[in-house]
Amino acid sequence: MSRPEPVLLARINTPDSASLETYRRDGGYEALRKALSMAPEEVINEVKDSGLRGRGGAGFPTGLKWTFLPKGHPGPIYLAINADESEPGTFNNRILMEQDPHQIIEGIAISCYAIKSNCSYLYLRYEYGKSYRALEKAIQECYAAGILGDNVLGTGFKLDVVLHRGAAAYICGEETGLIESLEGKRAWPRIKPPFPAIEGLFRKPTIVNNIETMACVKQILQRGAAWFKSVGVPPDPNNPRDAGSFGPKLYCLSGHVNKPGCYEVPLGITARELIEEYGGGVPNGRQIKAVVPGGISMGFLSASELDTPLDFNGPGKVGCLGLGTAAVVVIDDSASMVDVLYNCCRFFSHESCGQCTPCREGTAWMTKIMYRIRSGQGELRDLDLLMEVASSIGIIPGTTICGLSDGAAWPVKNAIKKFRGEFEDYIKAGKSSIKPAELVAAH
Ligand SMILES: Cc1cc2nc3c(=O)[nH]c(=O)nc-3n(C[C@H](O)[C@H](O)[C@H](O)COP(=O)(O)O)c2cc1C
Ligand code: SF4
Repeated sequence: MSRPEPVLLARINTPDSASLETYRRDGGYEALRKALSMAPEEVINEVKDSGLRGRGGAGFPTGLKWTFLPKGHPGPIYLAINADESEPGTFNNRILMEQDPHQIIEGIAISCYAIKSNCSYLYLRYEYGKSYRALEKAIQECYAAGILGDNVLGTGFKLDVVLHRGAAAYICGEETGLIESLEGKRAWPRIKPPFPAIEGLFRKPTIVNNIETMACVKQILQRGAAWFKSVGVPPDPNNPRDAGSFGPKLYCLSGHVNKPGCYEVPLGITARELIEEYGGGVPNGRQIKAVVPGGISMGFLSASELDTPLDFNGPGKVGCLGLGTAAVVVIDDSASMVDVLYNCCRFFSHESCGQCTPCREGTAWMTKIMYRIRSGQGELRDLDLLMEVASSIGIIPGTTICGLSDGAAWPVKNAIKKFRGEFEDYIKAGKSSIKPAELVAAH
């Protein structure tokens, strides 16, 4: 299979890729210049025409989200950039920020101009020290070169970009949790509506977008909406709610593969193609047991579902929550799904912010049940209990404020449904796979 030329990752690993000098040498900030010569509405239309859907997890159409801002608002309007990137297995934002921060800043500047914002906050996952240093340096370079500040590229457009280090919790990535955290409070998600576009940061209209979304915006302005729409897959005619999956996507491949990494591929590649042709297959001739299609909150594909296209529509067809962050984690047949699911449950229970009783108690309860099963003391009826709890928590059943609990429920529902036999065998064997050191860690 011939590999498409990378666009979002084109400059990665070239010498001094993070500097303004090399970025400009490679044509950097010409897309911003072009955008500034257009009317803001024209820039929004270009992004709408491209079919770009947000890369942060929900896949919401970017141009459409921008149009939700109140018309003629006197301001301020904010653009909050979500660089919290805490979904397990996800690292594409980090690579872009560390190695090509100016591509992100250019996308931010174009987006701010389009939505008539003079201030963007970039909320960065606390643990990303290298990204912080790269972005800080790039922002300083931009102020010194007149790309940011009171007179962007001499056009009179004013723009400040503020880099904000996060509070080191998964829930800070939920858009209203992020806004609360930016305001200096604990990242407790807000009840919606009002959505951030109407009342967001400091109670002002706010757009929240992901880092990779910003890289796409820059490329759309540079290469045109038609180019973006020529990559990927059109809407599924059998799904009237599918808006298509256009453009290149950064897939993070990890777990049991020979060549883990971040690969730029048109949306729609199947899990099998990604694993075999990019990841070099599974080590030691082992068989695939399960694949996480887009971060663990999306659930699991079974070995018989590897031909599922990893676009915005595909994973849902086989019972997963969605494409999520496109972080693909391969689990081979040496791993126990009991161990895998226990780890998932523990993660979400730890990261629940605790505001909603179904999420706080449900995630903790599922972790306790999984611990009981794993320690060899589970009963077959625990599997039905797990399904019952998982079906009761989340935005989809309508019992919680945010989607963390849907993300906690999906791996449970998928694992029990698709790998029930393995769970039953484990329970019937009555043996514990818990190692002595873990007993201390779990309690
Ligand atoms: C629990 C939870 C965690 C999230 N974490 C992130 C994150 O780390 N980064 C991100 O961009 N979006 C994250 N999201 C999605 C955001 O709420 C939001 O949809 C996204 O930032 C919008 O950007 P986009 O339209 O460019 O995709 C998370 C959502 C939930 C429910
Ligand atoms: S669903 Fe969970 S994480 Fe989200 S607000 Fe409620 S308790 Fe917090």
